[in-house]
Amino acid sequence: PKPIIMDCDPGHDDAIAIFLAAGSAEVDIQAITTVSGNALIEHTTRNALIIAEKAGLGHVPVAEGAGEPLVRHAVTAPHIHGESGLEGPALPEPEKSVDSRHAVDLTAELLLHAEEPITLVPTGPLTNIAWLLKRYPAVKKNIAGIVLMGGGSYGNWSPAAEFNIYADPEAAHIVFESGLPITMAGLDLTHQALAGEEEKELLRGADTNAAAFTAELLEYFAGTYHSLFGFSAAPIHDACAAAFTIDENVFATEHLPVTVETRGIYTTGMTVIDALQTTGKAPNVHVARELNQEVFWKMIRSSLERLP
Ligand code: BDR
Ligand code: CA
Repeated sequence: PKPIIMDCDPGHDDAIAIFLAAGSAEVDIQAITTVSGNALIEHTTRNALIIAEKAGLGHVPVAEGAGEPLVRHAVTAPHIHGESGLEGPALPEPEKSVDSRHAVDLTAELLLHAEEPITLVPTGPLTNIAWLLKRYPAVKKNIAGIVLMGGGSYGNWSPAAEFNIYADPEAAHIVFESGLPITMAGLDLTHQALAGEEEKELLRGADTNAAAFTAELLEYFAGTYHSLFGFSAAPIHDACAAAFTIDENVFATEHLPVTVETRGIYTTGMTVIDALQTTGKAPNVHVARELNQEVFWKMIRSSLERLP
């Protein structure tokens, strides 16, 4: 299996991304690291511990990362994910404890000792990843690629910016300019990953505790997406990034130059996609375009079947 490290801010859809990867034989989760995003860091870390346990990942280290973006103050999304970041289902007290290492140090350690290059799967703001690349530049040669959820050609936090990029645009800028192979599952893609009635039924049919928990997550998440954006179903953003590490057929990509806006008046946090290659810059990002619905929903269903 392909080794991956999941850096996240759970987060309803982050949780489903973890379930998806945990139940897949194609990938091997080496660590789960947390960042402030959907909720403050103490919440996202606690949620990651709970999800790791529910996913049967008791043996996988969960390490806490950045509680603040590189230069800005933390922004959170309580109106989307609730104050705890994982509002809706009853949450048990986690039994698992957090790793003693900082997320960035643990990730560096794993990368430096890796037998084969590891794929990073960030599904929150990119603070930890930027910090990692600056603090431990030698790890780059052991990073197979970065498959992230973020950005897109329009925003959900502002007209131009998607939340994960908006929350730490300087970090995103560092990551996008790193020269590493980047695959960006942005809103253009993730808004195709809508868990409607048919999809929810398919997932519930997995008939495991993880499937029942996923149904509760989806109910809450669909509620906030409906009241805030008028969506008829919840977009499972972060699972799209995890899905690509399992099977690249899950979405089509286009290799394009992308820059992160850090100083816009209206556009801070925008991923500026040079679709017609007007800049003449070398493409640096594989921009996700079209979701293969069948591949996507089937893989989530079979992962949920394999979990406790
Ligand atoms: C992203 O922001 C968070 O609300 C989700 O977990 C996802 O990573 C979508 O913009
Ligand atoms: Ca997330």
